[in-house]
Amino acid sequence: MNKILFFIILPLFLMSKQLSPQMQSYINSLKAEAKSKDSNFVDFSAKRGKEIFTSTHIGKRGKPISCTSCHTNDLRQKGKNIHTGKILKPLSPYANPKSMVKVKRVKKWLKRNFKDVYNRVGTAQEKGDVVYYIIEKK
Ligand code: HEC
Repeated sequence: MNKILFFIILPLFLMSKQLSPQMQSYINSLKAEAKSKDSNFVDFSAKRGKEIFTSTHIGKRGKPISCTSCHTNDLRQKGKNIHTGKILKPLSPYANPKSMVKVKRVKKWLKRNFKDVYNRVGTAQEKGDVVYYIIEKK
């Protein structure tokens, strides 16, 4: 019985995603920044990240918009840029292994996309929360 359990759990464990070292150090630096702003800060939350990702705001263009407007509600699906019509690869690293790997890319798009949706840049805490949601870290 234990042996059977082992062979079920092992592949699940191996399938779980590891963050790239540069993404891990990006998260660590966001944590340090969040902690410096709020001494009660403990860790980012995928639950708060989901709220950030799915809620609607008056964006840069003065119209209601959310992250899901372009990336859809399902992170494992392709998205579509509502302004240009460009098809976007899935954000989830489970569906798109090239996503959430390069810090330079992630920073650039978080900056742009927070402006699109929130009409301002994201705080360290908000960026960390939404990254946890995208990489599906509980
Ligand atoms: C107006 C459309 C649009 C909205 C709204 C939008 N995004 Fe994006 N996002 C894009 C585009 C375009 C890319 C780049 C895709 C490409 O190069 O193929 C992108 C890429 C990203 C990436 C980079 C992933 C990687 O590693 O390649 C992240 C992270 C991201 N978006 C998060 C968000 C978050 C969080 C929000 C909400 C605050 C959001 N996006 C809202 C269009 C959008």
